Amino acid sequence: MADRTITVRPFVEDDLDGVLDLLRAALGETPLLRRTPELFAWKHFENPFGRSLLLVAEGEGRIAGLRAFMRWDLVTPGGDVLRCVRAVDTATHPDFQRLGIFRRLTVAALEEATAAGIDMVFNTPNPKSGAGYLSMGWVEVGDLGVMAAPGRGLVSGKATPDVLPEASEFLTDPTPATGLSVSDRPARGLRTPRSPEYLAWRFGAHPTARYYRVDARSSTAVVRPNVRSGRRELVLSDVFGPEPAQAVGAVHRRNRAAYVAGWFNTRSPERSAALRRGMVPIPGVKTLTLVAKPLRPLPMDVASLATWDFASSDLELL
Ligand SMILES: CC(C)(COP(=O)(O)OP(=O)(O)OC[C@H]1O[C@@H](n2cnc3c(N)ncnc32)[C@H](O)[C@@H]1OP(=O)(O)O)[C@@H](O)C(=O)NCCC(=O)NCCS
Repeated sequence: MADRTITVRPFVEDDLDGVLDLLRAALGETPLLRRTPELFAWKHFENPFGRSLLLVAEGEGRIAGLRAFMRWDLVTPGGDVLRCVRAVDTATHPDFQRLGIFRRLTVAALEEATAAGIDMVFNTPNPKSGAGYLSMGWVEVGDLGVMAAPGRGLVSGKATPDVLPEASEFLTDPTPATGLSVSDRPARGLRTPRSPEYLAWRFGAHPTARYYRVDARSSTAVVRPNVRSGRRELVLSDVFGPEPAQAVGAVHRRNRAAYVAGWFNTRSPERSAALRRGMVPIPGVKTLTLVAKPLRPLPMDVASLATWDFASSDLELL
């Protein structure tokens, strides 16, 4: 019988090929989401919040599992920074599943994160791993549905994202003619600090996903063209500025996708703007479930969705 001894240890550079093979085997690969070294480096090494905490499980001389905690700061309305990590790229090779590898890796990573002073872990697991997280003390924050509106491409049948300027242009000039600044939205809940470094990495440096800016008079939307089930969608990824409805309106006027989709936190002005511009929650379409695990007592109710102030760009898993 094969030796099923499993070793858990930190990721080293030489593991990269084995880890990418593992991700392909466990999570799959599509033409739009290829498991490339560049994507892995963008996510885990170039993130301005810091390098990911990476552990691997080794068995039978190959990589059997990966535990990746991506560093991600969140800021409270009072201005305090929470040092968080996002559990992503969760994978145990099909030949090694149900042997406790996910559990062992996660427990080891939690110990490491606690020792590193991390305040909280959050993530959006799929149903396969969700049960495992809840059994390890994660709390369910809530379901994030999708809001959508038909796009003009339903009429013209053609998406032309190339008519929109690159999001990265917007990022190299934080105060363009519109008077827009990339400063954060007003404090409403736990949110990602949208520093210039974050924006440049998030929207300007992704190896494959292309983001475009759509300017309105005083506000700007950042959008990502995508193809889902053979249809062109435009993801309303983020909105900046004091008049979000202007930016969302400009997206609707200019896009040529089949539909526009996005998500903003309940009660946020961005969500109200999307509703005013014809985007509606699509009943029954549950895209993500947010779960979290504080690693120390925190002075806010992280189990309540109202505590969080997220937009699509904070949750898109790329
Ligand atoms: C999800 C995944 C990471 C679990 O890894 P694993 O090493 O097999 O998990 P473990 O053996 O440590 O199981 C830990 C717990 O997770 C839960 N779990 C794991 N696989 C499960 C499954 N197929 N169905 C239901 N619960 C499951 C169980 O609660 C399990 O505890 P138990 O075995 O005591 O009942 C693995 O199945 C995988 O890589 N799947 C494909 C990729 C994927 O879906 N990743 C998650 C992306 S969010």
